[in-house]
Amino acid sequence: MTFRARHLLGIEHLHPEEIRTLLDLADQYVDLNRRAVKHSDALAGLTQINMFFEASTRTQASFELAGKRLGADVMNMAMQASSIKKGETLIDTALTLNAMHPDLLVVRHPHSGAVDLLAQKVNCAVLNAGDGRHEHPTQALLDALTIRRTKGRLHRLNIAICGDIAHSRVARSNILLLGKMENRVRLVGPPTLMPAGIGEFGVEVYDDMKEGLRDVDVVMMLRLQKERMDGGFIPSEREYYHRYGLDAEKLSYAKPDAIVMHPGPMNRGVEIDGEIADDINRSVIQEQVEMGVAVRMAAMDLLARNLRAAKDEGVYV
Ligand code: NCD
Repeated sequence: MTFRARHLLGIEHLHPEEIRTLLDLADQYVDLNRRAVKHSDALAGLTQINMFFEASTRTQASFELAGKRLGADVMNMAMQASSIKKGETLIDTALTLNAMHPDLLVVRHPHSGAVDLLAQKVNCAVLNAGDGRHEHPTQALLDALTIRRTKGRLHRLNIAICGDIAHSRVARSNILLLGKMENRVRLVGPPTLMPAGIGEFGVEVYDDMKEGLRDVDVVMMLRLQKERMDGGFIPSEREYYHRYGLDAEKLSYAKPDAIVMHPGPMNRGVEIDGEIADDINRSVIQEQVEMGVAVRMAAMDLLARNLRAAKDEGVYV
């Protein structure tokens, strides 16, 4: 098996072969999830704890369902009501949980790097469910699976990632993954929403949607992350929609069979027109959600295999 990682903290350290291994296994879980009986025992006897320090709907539900379908004992920590409110540090919370012997910890945190730090303190496999504006690896993997299944391949595609790149961990993980798989990635958005040092990412940058979308195979829209903005990044939502919101006219510059993606949650009428989002001939937004469960099952299955092997070798006590 070609998947050696002990944790899934980001795309950055994954090898293309590991990505392929994970997506191949996820394909099998898509089939399982479409059956009447959706159970496997890949995680039977293992404990999965979900710790979400930031609001989440689909990612948390997806991880929970993934763990349950694989037979794990799944616990959701209500972090809003936890001791964090009483001043406990992230590390103390982690050590407390560690003493309960979890096997898989799924963590979302508002600070970039917090999940990596936590992974150094615990004896189990840690999955990053989004840390600040750093990485969101399972989102990039589910996007990759969606693209591979609809386009029939995951290389030599032209992919435009559009909108609020600067605040987006989804964009960062996708840029890394799509680059590793030898695609051409374009970033499209206003200069105020491009991260500093964008030149080092090996991407093309556009500030005009029509130019940026010309002949692309995939249009990936991002949410305007207002909660991470502390100043005047955009003149107004109306103006933003006019220049950068995906509507039929702008989409007509992409290839006729180009697909439209969005990680959710969507701001309809801000970054995307509701009709485009709901157009089943163009939008694969619901497929992304379906692929999310399968990708998380595959990721937890592979990490659990590595965890068992490490325990057998006495790496973890
Ligand atoms: C994304 C996230 O939280 O990073 N959502 C998700 O996981 N589906 C994107 C976003 O919040 O805009």
